[in-house]
Amino acid sequence: MNEPAIETIDLVKRYGTLTALDHVNLQAPAGRIYALLGPNGAGKTTLLSILTTLLPPTAGSARILGFDVSRDAAEVRRRIGVTFQEMVLDPLLTGRETLDFHGRLYRLPAAMRRQRIAELVELAQLTDAIDRPVKSYSGGMKRRLELARGLMTDPQVLVLDEPTQGLDPQNRVNIWNYVRDLNRQRGMTILLTTHAMDEAEALADLVGIIDHGRLIVSGQPSELIAAMGSDVIRVRGQGNFDHVAAIAATLEGVSRVETDPADGLALIYADNGSRRLPAILNTISNNGFTIEDVTLARPSLGDVFLHYTGTALRD
Ligand SMILES: Nc1ncnc2c1ncn2[C@@H]1O[C@H](COP(=O)(O)OP(=O)(O)OP(=O)(O)O)[C@@H](O)[C@H]1O
Ligand SMILES: [Mg+2]
Repeated sequence: MNEPAIETIDLVKRYGTLTALDHVNLQAPAGRIYALLGPNGAGKTTLLSILTTLLPPTAGSARILGFDVSRDAAEVRRRIGVTFQEMVLDPLLTGRETLDFHGRLYRLPAAMRRQRIAELVELAQLTDAIDRPVKSYSGGMKRRLELARGLMTDPQVLVLDEPTQGLDPQNRVNIWNYVRDLNRQRGMTILLTTHAMDEAEALADLVGIIDHGRLIVSGQPSELIAAMGSDVIRVRGQGNFDHVAAIAATLEGVSRVETDPADGLALIYADNGSRRLPAILNTISNNGFTIEDVTLARPSLGDVFLHYTGTALRD
């Protein structure tokens, strides 16, 4: 059987009385991009800190490429690259010096450092800026330099904590393309955290939703979305919502009905919304419900998040 590249088993982290990670069982297969999606304070950085050997677990265990983060920390460090949420660049060094220092730290020979830097400068699109001090870089350039630094050691596993936080839309897309290329061209396993839904949608082969330290659900975005019902019909109107929900739920192709009477809203999840729409609307209007407005849409990853956590994900 294929061992996952990243695995946690009943991982627990407490800071005093606060439980930041609560029995997390995460598996990220090799060669995939896994996005850990969760609101502020969910435990994302804590989890990455344990995986990158910076923080010891309180209980449970974690393995990277089969190596235990507590017992085999040196083996783990040798195989991973990391970009932290808080930028940790020296503003006075040039981009090239930043990369070279990192290579020295890992005892890469000079020839190898030169070769890696040449490759990474190209990949990170920093050719014009690489010999300028970092303090002259834009936010997007700094992020790309940090990513390049994480890649100096040619890691098998790359861990990125909020890689596009604070960047403008164009720079976010640049970073997404960069991350995608690393995964596709080098087969790198990438674990990233984000609290942006569009980022998870753009990049992730697999998504894990984390909230209050618990990994609530994980899987392929398409599977998680499909599990919601393939379409959602939003009906606004007036009437007996409990009655409407009970009746709509019995109709062919309807998988689930959620109502929000205070908002005058019923959400009807159906396997094929446009085909089921006439029958659904007929039935509910024949049962004393006054329809005011109808929209039909595909459920989004946002709907999945709402379903599992009970709240929308906001920046
Ligand atoms: N060193 C620490 N000491 C005490 N509590 C901490 C420490 N680091 C994190 N916490 C707490 O643990 C919880 C998880 O924090 P963590 O930084 O892992 O969340 P996060 O998901 O990365 O959030 P964000 O999206 O804001 O980066 C939070 O309640 C936080 O306040
Ligand atoms: Mg964080």
